[in-house]
Amino acid sequence: MLRGLLALMLTVTFVATAYAQDANTPDREATGGAQTLEDIMARQRGEEVDNSFRSEATGDPDSAAGIASQLGTLGGASDPELWRGLRFGSADVTASNNGPAATTLIQDGGMKWLRFREGPLLEYGGYLLFLTVALLAIFLLIRGRIRIDGEKTGRTLTRFKAIERFGHWLLAGSFILLGLTGLVSLFGRKVLIPAFGHESFSVLALGSKWVHNNVSWAFMLGLVMVFVMWVLHNLPDRTDLHWLRKGGGIFSDDHPPAKKFNAGQKLIFWSVIVLGSSISLSGLALLFPFEINMFAASFAKMNSFGISEALGLGQLRETLAPHEEMQYAQLWHAIVSFVLIAIIFAHIYIGTVGMEGAYDAMGSGEVEEQWAREHHSIWAEEELAKARNAPESATPAE
Ligand code: HEM
Repeated sequence: MLRGLLALMLTVTFVATAYAQDANTPDREATGGAQTLEDIMARQRGEEVDNSFRSEATGDPDSAAGIASQLGTLGGASDPELWRGLRFGSADVTASNNGPAATTLIQDGGMKWLRFREGPLLEYGGYLLFLTVALLAIFLLIRGRIRIDGEKTGRTLTRFKAIERFGHWLLAGSFILLGLTGLVSLFGRKVLIPAFGHESFSVLALGSKWVHNNVSWAFMLGLVMVFVMWVLHNLPDRTDLHWLRKGGGIFSDDHPPAKKFNAGQKLIFWSVIVLGSSISLSGLALLFPFEINMFAASFAKMNSFGISEALGLGQLRETLAPHEEMQYAQLWHAIVSFVLIAIIFAHIYIGTVGMEGAYDAMGSGEVEEQWAREHHSIWAEEELAKARNAPESATPAE
């Protein structure tokens, strides 16, 4: 009796599922099994379309419509077969050019990529930058400039040597150029062409592309220099927890102790290193098309570690056409750049208008002793102790 009931339930479930699937599958009889307008429109809207009815139907000429039958207008037996093969990468293509993507003649990621690039990427990226500037302006209005509280001593401490300042400005100067020229390329079609016309934009676009491609090397060099020079000072330690608990003393007159870099600066440092490396890698993938393919492999890792499921992305695709690799590289490059530009806005704010005495550290390299005592007390003490001991150790032993 129980077994009978179970069998009945299973049958009902299967029938219901099969019915549900049938209801969602377009009737392709009229097209002889080919795509329907419904399929095409769904794909253009960026929806997921199950292509298996086509991708699994290659390699069998008999499944194509005969040239002489009523569906002859759809093409001869070989044509739909060939196009399906080209479309799903199973056709035997020989190209005179031996480039890595030369034999992939059709891929369908382009429309989705273009829509995302000219839609959400521009919109949300623009909002992010605008909002960051607005928040910093509000913060300045509420908090005002962080002043040096104590009496200035007139004495200075050396904060950064010439080579450190060179590394910083190489990184900063190139980042600013890359950010500006990158934004010119991204906002060109949507904003700059309508505003200034094709002629002026073409000059700007050519110049921007040249600067962007070539200055990228200076950014990578600056990134390596800054990493090597400052990594040891940016390893997290216990003082950071205390500094963070006190909110860096930003909203109080408290000055939590800090070493050479406080926890806020360490966060900036690691953001620059991690996001800057990721931007560099995806930039290299764009600079050398089809040579560096990392997305299919990364998606496979994310699937196997369960990261994609945890992020609610489901199973990510593990096979990508070379062009799709490039499309993902472009999107990733731009998204991570937007995030880093927003972080750098905050960094520039605190290094200039936000805090009295901070700019000197990267300008002349010399900071007011009182500034150092207030913002980097542990480091200041160490430096002062070194200075006190220096003359004694310099005296030759009798
Ligand atoms: C006009 C632009 C910029 C100004 C005025 C500026 C200013 C400064 C100053 C004053 C410091 C030293 C802070 C201290 O003594 O404690 C510093 C440090 C640093 N800067 Fe910049 N900077 C600029 C752009 C950039 C850019 C574009 C990057 C990276 C892409 C960058 C990365 C760093 C890093 C990693 C540090 C060390 C950590 C830190 O102090 O936060 N800077 N900058």
